[in-house]
Amino acid sequence: MATSFKLPISQGFGETNRIDRWWMEPLWMGAALTAALVYTFLRLIFFDGAIHYDDHRVTSPIFSPDIIHLWSLEVPAWANSAMLILWIPFGFRGTCYYMRRVYYRTFFASPVACVVAEPKISKSLGYRGEGGLFIFNNIHRIMLYLAIIILFMKYIDVFHTLRFHDVDGTNTYGLSVGTFVLAAESFLLTMYVTSCHAFRHLVGGGNKRWSLGFEKIQGNIFRFVSKTNVHHGFWFWTSLGMVFLGDLFVWAVAEGILNDPSFKI
Ligand code: FES
Repeated sequence: MATSFKLPISQGFGETNRIDRWWMEPLWMGAALTAALVYTFLRLIFFDGAIHYDDHRVTSPIFSPDIIHLWSLEVPAWANSAMLILWIPFGFRGTCYYMRRVYYRTFFASPVACVVAEPKISKSLGYRGEGGLFIFNNIHRIMLYLAIIILFMKYIDVFHTLRFHDVDGTNTYGLSVGTFVLAAESFLLTMYVTSCHAFRHLVGGGNKRWSLGFEKIQGNIFRFVSKTNVHHGFWFWTSLGMVFLGDLFVWAVAEGILNDPSFKI
């Protein structure tokens, strides 16, 4: 006779019958997100003095697009571009379907992993669908449109690295390590944005059929995006990590700790 189990079998926070190292994933993800938040806060508030070098030829990914410089905005001395634009990438990532899974697990333990018991407080206050405070997650599609604009501006920043401002006031063109750093960040961000579930819906997922004319093209794009969508978590972490690696590189060059080797035409 078949026996039925009510899962999780073990009760009490962290109790489980799993014998693998299930706690590794929520642990490193929680540590990585916390480090990212603390680093960003410190960089924005206390260490925002070296955000570009070569007269804005290369700008840190955290402060890009540097709209204060681009649009000659009049702002208080303590303000920087990241303070004005970071709400877009934060809003986009914060409402991301993959990110929701990460923070429900790591910060709310709701549940912390599959078949692992959650704390009593999570059972009473934990996730109950996209209601209450979580209703804001429904703006994800709007955040996607804004993120696409930011992504476009990131590529302008990459092209900007190709133009060197010489001391005699002329411009020459070439490549430097900074170009590759910003290009890598833009590429990873492109993969993250285009593997987004809402983007997949946008390019063809909302269609009822993909058999004729333009809808057929949409169907092909949808199938291609579906393949990258499978790895959305990978693109989430690599694009996020590259923002900070890129920032560290620009910061180090701006402070004279590193060089930016270049090749000019
Ligand atoms: Fe992750 Fe849209 S689902 S960015």
